[in-house]
Amino acid sequence: MAEVRLLEVGPRDGLQNEPEVIPTGVKIEYVRRLAAAGLKRIEVTSFVSPRWVPQLADASEVLAGLDLPGVELSVLVPNQKGLERALEAGVKRIALFAAASETFSRKNLNRSIAESLDDYRPVARQALAAGMSLRGYLSTCFVCPFEGPVAPDRVAALTAELLEMGVDEVGISDTIGVAVPPQIRATLKAVLEVAPVEKLALHLHDTWGTALANVWAGLELGIASFDASSGGLGGCPYAPGAAGNLATEDLVNLLERSGYDTGVDLGKLAEASRFLAQALGRELPSRVLRVVD
Ligand code: HMG
Ligand code: MG
Repeated sequence: MAEVRLLEVGPRDGLQNEPEVIPTGVKIEYVRRLAAAGLKRIEVTSFVSPRWVPQLADASEVLAGLDLPGVELSVLVPNQKGLERALEAGVKRIALFAAASETFSRKNLNRSIAESLDDYRPVARQALAAGMSLRGYLSTCFVCPFEGPVAPDRVAALTAELLEMGVDEVGISDTIGVAVPPQIRATLKAVLEVAPVEKLALHLHDTWGTALANVWAGLELGIASFDASSGGLGGCPYAPGAAGNLATEDLVNLLERSGYDTGVDLGKLAEASRFLAQALGRELPSRVLRVVD
């Protein structure tokens, strides 16, 4: 069976977008249940400004409550201060996040794309020197909610810049979940001119219901790393129109039944999502969650 890598982003991308702040204990239990379902890479929280994202202000407490041998826990870091907090928390993997469109970069990071990359370079050097591993994200790779379509060449050039900093994987992101397979193919083909396929992941939101079709377009180009959030939680508070991420249940079902090994137990994953849905007091949008026992 072909192997694929999954990154579970529900605790970070999902919970950052909830209008209410979820109790720290619930977050910890949610992550534990995700790990028990077989997810080996989990993005737990963000060391961003608590004024910008109050939902994740308890990042240090969440991490302090987790002891999950064999599971790679990662966090988002936007700047030097975020790195310091991550070092203090003993985190081994951080994700630096940039954007492919100027307006989104300013809305999300209060900086231009070039400023954000300049700020990230010393952060990346210090993190690598401290023995951390690095992931990169590139938002708005297909469409920006403010500027419209984004040119594939631009995405390729910025992916190359992130790789030069030493990130081992770049999450090519459809931030507002509107891309369709021809856009995925056009952009990935441009990116593959500058980046090896094993350093690329797809981070897809599912606003318009095209995420699974886009996963398939990625698989056909050799992509073997996908982000998803349990139950289909998620969004970005600074991207109007961004609904949930591709649901992990929907992704696991598609992959497993198509001959890929994810290592995830769908029933246990659904239990984790239902635990969170109960805490949130609402249903989650995953299709497969509705039908799996
Ligand atoms: P700024 O206001 O320009 O920053 O924000 P600043 O340096 O002027 O600092 C402002 C205040 O925040 C100061 O506090 C700092 O100390 C504090 P004050 O002195 O006023 O009390 N501060 C921090 N506190 C804790 N941790 C930190 C930190 N940094 C500053 N790391 C900043 C700039 C980058 C901080 C801000 O814009 C920010 O936090 N942005 C993050 C926004 C965010 O988290 N967005 C969602 C994640 S990205 C996403 O969802 C997309 C993704 O899923 C891919 C996709 O789908 O596209 C990854
Ligand atoms: Mg996202």
